[in-house]
Amino acid sequence: MSTVAVDNIGLLVTNDPALGTVRGAALVIEGERVAAVERAGAEADRRIDAGGRCVIPGFVDSHTHLVFAGDRADEFAARMAGERYAAGGIRVTTDATRAASAAQLTELTARRRREGYRAGITHVEIKSGYGLETDSERRSCEVAAQFTDDVTFLGAHVVPAEFDGKPDDYVWLVCGEMLEACAPYSKWIDVFCEEGAFDVEQSRAVLEAGAEAGLGLRVHANQLGEGPGVRLAVEMGAASADHCTYLSDDDIEALAASDTVATFLPATDFSTREQYPDARRAIDAGVTAALATNTNPGSSYTTSMSFCIALAVRDMRMTAEEALTAATLGGAKALRRDDIGHLSPGARADLAILDAPSYTHLVYRPGVPLIAATIAAGELVWSDPDFDLT
Ligand code: NIG
Repeated sequence: MSTVAVDNIGLLVTNDPALGTVRGAALVIEGERVAAVERAGAEADRRIDAGGRCVIPGFVDSHTHLVFAGDRADEFAARMAGERYAAGGIRVTTDATRAASAAQLTELTARRRREGYRAGITHVEIKSGYGLETDSERRSCEVAAQFTDDVTFLGAHVVPAEFDGKPDDYVWLVCGEMLEACAPYSKWIDVFCEEGAFDVEQSRAVLEAGAEAGLGLRVHANQLGEGPGVRLAVEMGAASADHCTYLSDDDIEALAASDTVATFLPATDFSTREQYPDARRAIDAGVTAALATNTNPGSSYTTSMSFCIALAVRDMRMTAEEALTAATLGGAKALRRDDIGHLSPGARADLAILDAPSYTHLVYRPGVPLIAATIAAGELVWSDPDFDLT
C-alpha cells in the first residue's frame, strides 16, 4: 500500500496521550490509517507540505441534526429581539422535512457535510428527528447512514401536531413501529428530555426500548433548565448527556462518577441566548467533556467547531487545550470510539492542517476560517485554494 507523509509540521497534536504534541514532525499515512509519527523529512511515496503549520486530529462532531429541509431565520431573529427558544419550533422543520424528497434531503445533507469538511470535521454523528412519523424517520435515518456509521434515531424529538394531547400514544409509536423501522440504519437512540418535549418517564421508556433493540443511548438533557435528564442519562448508562447548560451539584457528581460524557453545545447557547454551561466546574469535578456543533436550523445553525472552541474558552472557562481535546478525543469518547480523535499509529488518518502556527489561534482569531486542509480516512477532502500543499 502506498504511503503519504504530511511533512514539515511545525506543531503536531496527536492526543496520544491527551494533547500530546510533537514539534518538527511528519505524519506518515498508509491507506486509511496513521502508520507513524516521525521527525520532519520522513520517507514516503507522496508528500504533503504543511509548511511549518499546526496539524490537529480532525474534529469529531458528536451531535448534529444534518438531515432537514427549510429555514428558521425569522425565529432566530425573533430570539435576538428577546423571545425565548422553545422546543415547538422543531415542528416547523418537521413540516419542511416531510415535504422534501429523499433526493433533496440527501443533497442538503451532502452540502452540509461538505461545509463540515471545510471546518475540519472529519467525523459526524447525525440524528433523525424531523420526520416524527415512521416513514419519514426511517427515511432520515437512511439518508444519514450514507454519511456516517454513527446514526442516531431521534423519533422522540418532540410530539408532532397530530398527537397533540396524546403524548403517550406518540411514545408508544416511537418505541414500537418507528423504532423497528429505524433501528436497522441506526447505532444510537436519543430523546429530548425537557419541558415541552418528553418527561422523565416517557424518556426512560424510549431509552429502554432502544436498549432492548440493541442501540446505544444518548440524551438531550438540561438544555433549558435544571431537570432530570442528566441523571437519567447516567442511570441508564448513556454514552452522552448533551447540552448540560444547567448542571446542579448532583448532576455533576453523577456525571463525574460515570462513563457518561457531558457534551457541551455552546453555539446553541449563543444562538438561543441561554447562559453558557459552567464547564470549568464540571471538568474540575472530574467530568469528561465533549464539544459539538449541534448543527440544526433551530438552535444552532453552524458547522464551525472553531467557533464552538472559541466560545468554550471565552465563556465556559475551558483552556484552549481542554477545548481542543473536547472537540476531538472528547467527541470520540461520546461516541464510544477509540479509532478516531487522536493520531496514534493505527488510528484512522483524520486530521486538519491549520493555517496557523498553533491551535491557540482557533480562539485568538475568532471567526477566521483557519482550516487550510482536511484529510479524512487518508483522503484529502478539502483544501484551501490559497494554500500550497506541494
Ligand atoms: O439539540 N433541543 C433539541 N433539539 C435540537 C434543536 C432542534 C430545533 O430547534 O430544531 C438541539 O438543540
